[in-house]
Amino acid sequence: GESTPAGPFVPTKEDYQKVYDAIAHRLANETDYDDGSYGPVLVRLAWHASGTYDKVTGTGGSNGATMRFAPESDHGANAGLKHARDFLEPIKAQFPWITYSDLWTLAGAAAIQELGGPVIPWRPGRQDKDVAACTPDGRLPDASKNQDHIRTIFGRMGFDDREMVALSGAHALGRAHTDRSGYEGPWDFSPTVFTNDYFKLLVDEKWNQRKWNGPAQFTDKTTSTLMMLPTDIALIKDKVFRKHVDRYAKDQDAFFKEFSDVYVKLLELGVPFESKPEDRIVFKASE
Ligand code: HEM
Repeated sequence: GESTPAGPFVPTKEDYQKVYDAIAHRLANETDYDDGSYGPVLVRLAWHASGTYDKVTGTGGSNGATMRFAPESDHGANAGLKHARDFLEPIKAQFPWITYSDLWTLAGAAAIQELGGPVIPWRPGRQDKDVAACTPDGRLPDASKNQDHIRTIFGRMGFDDREMVALSGAHALGRAHTDRSGYEGPWDFSPTVFTNDYFKLLVDEKWNQRKWNGPAQFTDKTTSTLMMLPTDIALIKDKVFRKHVDRYAKDQDAFFKEFSDVYVKLLELGVPFESKPEDRIVFKASE
């Protein structure tokens, strides 16, 4: 009889776990970067790819991976994210069937898990778009602003106050770089481990304005080695935000659960999935 031609490759959950494993493996090997891990900058890449979403026009979001192109790659907020995109190129070469937009979000989920955070259920379905789909500058938050700005930016994506605070807890990871944002320093003492320390420090430390030539930022009274952005301090100045900061500072399990839910939501903004939420993949973390 006639032989059936091979159809397009349809990846299974096992194939996506292989991508996860390759990212985890590369994370474990490439320790000669920043505080010893590309994990934080991968978390930020997935967030900046997704956080351009506008619920009114349905534009932006992780579907498209338009940060591959200028002008979006040159937007000030995206400075430094080339490190994350380049880190993922060998993974893309190894698994050419995955779209960049699926790969970047999968890497964000993998980084949270590999750095000791909660499970981030994830599903594929994003298609890469071309340069014409680049979003205008100004959709991502400006760290020099206050709580009104946070509510405007994250409200445009469709998040409520509680979700805005939970998302901000990602600042447990990584650091600011003078040659990227102009700010400087890590938010806590373990920037490569996902914890609720960001909230604990916001509550327990005294934060003073740092005296330096750089942009206005805060430093901890005890060691003068940590930093908070003006938008981080806005979370303890605002009464409603503060309630959630206090809750997450006291209850790491609540933070992990609520962070997972909201990061999953972030990574899926504006994606026209054919699959259902129950089809999300729960990746097995490395040992
Ligand atoms: C880093 C601003 C929300 C994850 C940074 C940096 C700034 C910033 C200025 C430093 C960038 C650099 O110099 O390398 C803000 C503002 C936010 C916000 C103004 C909201 C008001 C978020 C959210 C997430 C996130 C929602 C993820 C869910 C990260 C991570 C880093 C980072 C992981 C560290 C990156 C690294 O170490 O290279 N953020 N951010 N941020 N942000 Fe945010």
